[in-house]
Amino acid sequence: MKNRELTLNIFRYDPNIPGREPYMQPYSLQETEGMTIFIALNQIRENQDPSLKFDFVCRAAICGSCGMLVNGRPRLACKTLTRDLPEVITLMPLPVFKLIGDLSVDTGSWFRQLSIKTGAWVHSDKSFNPNCQEERMSNETALKIYEAERCIECGCCIAGCATANIRDDFLGAAGLYKIARFMVDPRDERPEEKYFDVVSSEEGVFGCLGLMACEDNCPMELPLQVQLAYVRRKMALIGFRV
Ligand code: SF4
Ligand code: FES
Repeated sequence: MKNRELTLNIFRYDPNIPGREPYMQPYSLQETEGMTIFIALNQIRENQDPSLKFDFVCRAAICGSCGMLVNGRPRLACKTLTRDLPEVITLMPLPVFKLIGDLSVDTGSWFRQLSIKTGAWVHSDKSFNPNCQEERMSNETALKIYEAERCIECGCCIAGCATANIRDDFLGAAGLYKIARFMVDPRDERPEEKYFDVVSSEEGVFGCLGLMACEDNCPMELPLQVQLAYVRRKMALIGFRV
């Protein structure tokens, strides 16, 4: 492999400095074997510019911290290889989320308000008895919950979603996926009508324009549209009853 000279054009902005305008800053570096955007950014920060802000924790597509727009598409920096990109690469922060600085955005607050809004915990009136045997669950149900738990809350589906970009109350694919997770969980005693109040509006399932960007951009390749159709079907059925 012939290693290339890469140019990374990176969005720079510090919202905490009054009067400071955003700008694009170019950095050059030599591509190496197996280089990811994450590795490139670390090299820039270590060797060229310690002031560059971006987020990461795991480097292994697990924590969901390193989402950013890579040549206009929401991607995880740690999962995106430079060899799959042209020599000139543009990096911008994810839209929708509050900008902390440069490529760093606050996805945590966004997902926290989503969890509160959707009641993303098992709702049960049962009290915990440590002497009881654990409740059993079929493998099939456990697998469905496991699948629905694979979201790493990176925000790529939200950043690429047309509705989320124009409505800040839209739950987005990640929110509807979260709802589906509790709908399939037999320990959650919420009647389906309870979900109706949260998701059966333009903020929820009916705000989706069906453009599929969420699924195209999800680094975990989650079946977002399938789950969305599941929630939408359930809501339509309940809609006939209420
Ligand atoms: Fe990221 Fe996929 Fe979860 Fe959206 S659904 S937050 S793209 S892992
Ligand atoms: Fe954790 Fe990229 S650093 S997902």
